Amino acid sequence: MNMMPLRLLLLIAIGCPGGKESALLCEDPQTILLTDGSNSGFERCADEAVNRVSDQPIDPVNSGPRCVGDEDVQNCSTDADCTEGPHGACIHQEPDGWGMADTAGGPSCSCEYACSKDADCETGAICVPDELSPNATRPVCVPATCDSSEDCSSGECGLSAFHNGCWWVVTAICRDDGDGCHADAECEDACAADTGGEDFVCQTTSCAIGRPLLVEGEARVAGVVQRGDWTTSSAIPLPTPGSCAQLAAYWNRVAALEHASVGSFARFTLQLLALGAPAELLSATQVAAGDEIRHARFAYGLASTFAGKPQGPGPLAMDKAGSSFDPQAVLYGLIDEACIGETLGAAELRAAAELADPTLRGTLLQMAEEEGQHAALAWKSLRWLLQIHPELRPLARQGLEVGMARHRASAHSMAPQPGLERWGVHPAAGEVHLQTLARVVAPVVRALFEEEGASALC
Ligand SMILES: [Fe+2]
Ligand SMILES: [Fe+2]
Repeated sequence: MNMMPLRLLLLIAIGCPGGKESALLCEDPQTILLTDGSNSGFERCADEAVNRVSDQPIDPVNSGPRCVGDEDVQNCSTDADCTEGPHGACIHQEPDGWGMADTAGGPSCSCEYACSKDADCETGAICVPDELSPNATRPVCVPATCDSSEDCSSGECGLSAFHNGCWWVVTAICRDDGDGCHADAECEDACAADTGGEDFVCQTTSCAIGRPLLVEGEARVAGVVQRGDWTTSSAIPLPTPGSCAQLAAYWNRVAALEHASVGSFARFTLQLLALGAPAELLSATQVAAGDEIRHARFAYGLASTFAGKPQGPGPLAMDKAGSSFDPQAVLYGLIDEACIGETLGAAELRAAAELADPTLRGTLLQMAEEEGQHAALAWKSLRWLLQIHPELRPLARQGLEVGMARHRASAHSMAPQPGLERWGVHPAAGEVHLQTLARVVAPVVRALFEEEGASALC
């Protein structure tokens, strides 16, 4: 498995910019004409970078398939039903792989709205023709912090279109001399806006189980009970009855850990507040807690399918699970619960997704991407904590060494689980953990402590 995307994501999280120096200059800009010959309002530079120059009128045609009337869910019948926005069309939609209950796992009909100019979009968004917005069948509104070259001191309002491994992310931001790149050719994968939407950086496709709720060193989880409100439907092929029991147990275990992660992030929220953390870390922690609820529901949904009855969490015991606000305790929590564990979880989920049945792959890839973001949040939080408490650096270095050794021993003792890869169980998760420890965690630790040879990583 290619470990580079996850390593780069975490290096960026701890402040290594990634990517190489780039010349900020759009050479030989050419106006991009649409297939009907009209000016798109965008220019293409010699290095293939694309910039927004001005707002130009675009034909708001939706070339997507219209509804035929036999879809499982019909939110509209004809284009005339779509009146909540400009240029509405009633479009046939295939399920997105999440298998969520509201589409019953089958095709549906929904209204889509196109734009013909920026005024059709909400404030903070611009209208981008479908020819410049991958996978779009109509001109679409995308988030933007600039709408023309005049908005940017560099004279370049850059269009960022990046497939993160699961879906396309399109946005427009000013290019500036803080950028790590100008065009895709400078990067292993793509030059695109960073998560904060401030700079162009070399982005990687890192679509990637997660953060335990540790109480006195043990992962605390809720027991499984029969209930239907924690499940989502999934249209997956069933294995033999014997494997069903094994898979139900596996996915119930995953679900319980995902469910408990919500508590871990809640506890971490209180610690961040107590230590005066930046808004960015608090915000990302809330997003992560929401991700874990979705992950838990998906996993309980799979467990329910394999068990043949609805599965969900019982009460989660919270005795002795309270927060310690001592910086050293927060440090140990970050190392034990988050930095190493979330990194290994993201890598394992990504590896499992690559081998899974297509009906599961999309969801597993999205979960892996989100776990990768949780790992990045953990390493970013650790870096921040060590900046405000530099006296903790020796303890952190030691704790990470001990943590890596513990996870290495644990990986060696993980039994292979062959024959269940189609249902999202990696046959050799221990091997994935060992490779991730050596090729991702260890280099990130070296970079964090700026040790000899680490500068080559950044
Ligand atoms: Fe997570
Ligand atoms: Fe998760």
